[in-house]
Amino acid sequence: MPIRVLPPTVVNRIAAGEVIERPASAVKELVENAIDAGATRIDVTLRDGGRTLISVSDDGCGMSGEELALAVERHATSKLPGDDLTHIATLGFRGEALPSIGAVGRLAITSRQAGSDSAWTLTVEGGAKGAVQPAALGPGTRVELRDLFYATPARLKFLKAARTELDHVEDVINRLAMAHPAIGFTLTDDARPVLRLGAAATDLLADAAAARLARLAQVMGRDFADNALPLDVVREGVRLSGHIGLPTLNRATAAQQYLFVNGRPVRDRLLHGAVRGAYQDFLARDRHPLVALFLELPAEAVDVNVHPAKAEVRFRDAGLVRGLIVGACKHALAEAGHRAATTVATAALGSFRSLPPPSPWRPSATLPRGFAELAASVYAPQDDPQTAELAGVVAPAARAAAPEPASGGVSEYPLGAARAQLHATYIVAQTVDGIVIVDQHAAHERLVYERMKEALAARGIARQALLIPEIVELESAAAERLTARRDELAELGLVIEAFGPGAIVVREVPALLGIADVKGLVRDLADELAEFGQALSLKERLEEICGTMACHGSVRAGRQLTAAEMNALLREMEATPHSGQCNHGRPTYVELKLADIERLFGRR
Ligand SMILES: Nc1ncnc2c1ncn2[C@@H]1O[C@H](COP(=O)(O)OP(=O)(O)OP(=O)(O)O)[C@@H](O)[C@H]1O
Ligand SMILES: [Mg+2]
Repeated sequence: MPIRVLPPTVVNRIAAGEVIERPASAVKELVENAIDAGATRIDVTLRDGGRTLISVSDDGCGMSGEELALAVERHATSKLPGDDLTHIATLGFRGEALPSIGAVGRLAITSRQAGSDSAWTLTVEGGAKGAVQPAALGPGTRVELRDLFYATPARLKFLKAARTELDHVEDVINRLAMAHPAIGFTLTDDARPVLRLGAAATDLLADAAAARLARLAQVMGRDFADNALPLDVVREGVRLSGHIGLPTLNRATAAQQYLFVNGRPVRDRLLHGAVRGAYQDFLARDRHPLVALFLELPAEAVDVNVHPAKAEVRFRDAGLVRGLIVGACKHALAEAGHRAATTVATAALGSFRSLPPPSPWRPSATLPRGFAELAASVYAPQDDPQTAELAGVVAPAARAAAPEPASGGVSEYPLGAARAQLHATYIVAQTVDGIVIVDQHAAHERLVYERMKEALAARGIARQALLIPEIVELESAAAERLTARRDELAELGLVIEAFGPGAIVVREVPALLGIADVKGLVRDLADELAEFGQALSLKERLEEICGTMACHGSVRAGRQLTAAEMNALLREMEATPHSGQCNHGRPTYVELKLADIERLFGRR
């Protein structure tokens, strides 16, 4: 067959195949164009989930008749003044979206340039471009796309139910809206309003962070806004700001973790890995926090031209970005301190009314042989207060604080004065303006766990030499990645050496882990290094064992506590970071304010 240059209609259809996958991708391109045009209001109307009609109207800068004719040409753009792909400041830059969309549907664009009193319209149907004609429209642009994929029936077959396509459109608009709180967005489907995101009020604009949080609340829910910690840090010219949820607010998937890079919503595995690293102390592995993080970095520090739909970016220094995310999240969580659980009161009040009870307590994992005993000997709950003090179960300073007499004044301590133990499981304490209910087992487990981690950090991780060094075969790239991190792994107790091209030899392992499945561990570590750039699972496994030991070594539910013991526990919780939730992201205590209780009884 002779070689030939393909005609433009075919070229555009091929290009559209990469970019326009479904109605939501067309909406994304059109809304991005409106944002780039400086719009303050963007209205999206669909029919049939976008299959028969997508219409996007904006009040942005608009286009003249000549510009309109150019806009639908392939590789025609107003966004690359200097032919420089390293300084992209707009969402678009390739001049491909409109011709691609025009190649697979019936496209009609009407636009009136700011300051002009005439509007122009142009159609492109299945790649055939019509003539520019006068039209009537206020300042701004309206793009209508009918019969998406009529020109490419193969694609049409892959469209899902209108409801599913609508969900994708909603997601696309939500993401863009989160990054642009000053713009108002609406979405209507078959004349039914689906989204109405009001622009932040002008006086709020002064406080960009407040405007953003208001928008996040609209998209991610009031719950998130109420339970979110703000963060804002700058390192080496990279700014990271945004909000992250308290660990006690968590989900079964990472779908509510959003990352924005220079105003562009992106999907990045780096984000999920970094967030997992930052929260690993507070959440069970199968629970995920909610976060919305915004990175601003110099345009040349990030390559946005790596994905056909611009949904991914590549950082010049991914390590820096990752470190920034992990560090800032950890810092924000540490700042939240033991107060992490106070916001669960609302949920608790709700559950008094109707909600089903939370899932029952389950110990996290089974212990390696022998460690249960070790944990028990070091951290066993002690009935004799002196042994308890020796074992570090009860902090000496705290124990010295005399319990308040039952009839005494109300405690000034944040977690109050213990008043009673109920069902040998819950401590009830009275605070200045409310009551606190503590799950004694969960709270104590957290305290023991924090103490074990401290000890690990102070004394280092004990290693155990393998009698017969274990040789693990890997791909050569994986083996290299592991040996490059030798020192870091040795600090965690794993001593390895290169062993020819595709293998490493393991000489020592962390004593805590035992010599169980060395090969499996090494392979997991290699995968993680490839995926996240850090060895999470070794740390996680060690901490999981700490967690399990802590669980076994903690005051069991069902044990009677004296007033002194209860107060000591409360004081130690106040002094221990992260004591507001147990190791699985469940709260260790609930605080009910008097006002809430009064409301429960209808006194307010
Ligand atoms: N809503 C709009 N308001 C004003 N001008 C617009 C609008 N939509 C498109 N344009 C103009 O048309 C040009 C082409 O748009 P198109 O989306 O095809 O390419 P792009 O946005 O430049 O790059 P990309 O293909 O990466 O989206 C834009 O550069 C812009 O000048
Ligand atoms: Mg565009």
